[in-house]
Amino acid sequence: GVVIGAFLATLGYAFIERSQNSAGGSSGGPLVLTLGHGLDQTHPVHRAIVEFADRLKEKSGGTMTVQISPNGQLGSEVECIELLQRGALAMTKTSTAPLEAFIPSMSVFGVPYVFRDETQFWKTLDGPIGEELLQAGRDSGLHGLCWYDAGARSFYTKSTAIHSPDDLKGLKLRVQDSRTALEMVTALGGSPTPMNFGELYTGLQQGLVDGAENNPPSFETSRHFEVCKEYSLNEHSLVPDVLLISTRWWDRLSPEQQAWVEQAAEESSVFQRQLWREKTAESLKIVEEAGVNVTRPDKGPFIERVQPMHDALKGTVVGNLMERIKAEE
Ligand code: GCU
Repeated sequence: GVVIGAFLATLGYAFIERSQNSAGGSSGGPLVLTLGHGLDQTHPVHRAIVEFADRLKEKSGGTMTVQISPNGQLGSEVECIELLQRGALAMTKTSTAPLEAFIPSMSVFGVPYVFRDETQFWKTLDGPIGEELLQAGRDSGLHGLCWYDAGARSFYTKSTAIHSPDDLKGLKLRVQDSRTALEMVTALGGSPTPMNFGELYTGLQQGLVDGAENNPPSFETSRHFEVCKEYSLNEHSLVPDVLLISTRWWDRLSPEQQAWVEQAAEESSVFQRQLWREKTAESLKIVEEAGVNVTRPDKGPFIERVQPMHDALKGTVVGNLMERIKAEE
């Protein structure tokens, strides 16, 4: 995996070098922004990225285009983040989870049951905290553009229904490359195993892990539901997706180009939120029809179990953010 990832990253790099040359050269070709991400083309976040590309092309009169590489073709989310830092890749879309290692305040989304509901979540993202977090990566080479809805994450397993945290005991559960995700599963009593999203289907099939956790559209479009027949909507976290451009690329754009990118991102995020609702309902229907048992456990025992995690964060950067989120209403 690592070797192939590095090889693909090199290909991506060569590609970007070429597009940079054509943009800066006398050929007068469009400026090509290559964007790598890990989701399938049927996923609503991929469709939002296509919308972003279309809008940018239109606004720039065809002088800026986005070349999208889905399905982790350019590497895992962490690898794409690192390519952005070096300027070897112009753009990516990742979950906030792998960003924690680069932008510590992003950890707030990984803490289970931080938000009371979706209204509070979106108020946070659309308000000053959301704006601060998008800007927080600028000095690490990661300029945030907009948020995409990634719903609520819940557990799915090959054959164990999760009615309460006790059912997680002894289960090996794949987690994202994130410390809070690791701590969350541990706090709930399961055994966390970090793994790339792109390797998870095989990991489940081969029994490296017994289950994982994700939102309905990702559970469905990744086809993990073909292997996992229990999906328990305990909704432990609201971990958004974020659209990023390398600071190195951003700083080279003219103010006019920057404005086009910002507007296209904003419009794509509005488009995506509508799409998300529809796709979540559709995905749940698809997996149920495919024989997945979808259950809705009482959240109380899960919330209780992660209370020590909340307590331990008091006074930290993330703990202070949690206080601000609560205070804003
Ligand atoms: C979601 C998210 C992805 C992420 C994935 C994961 O699907 O949108 O960006 O890679 O979760 O669990 O890794």
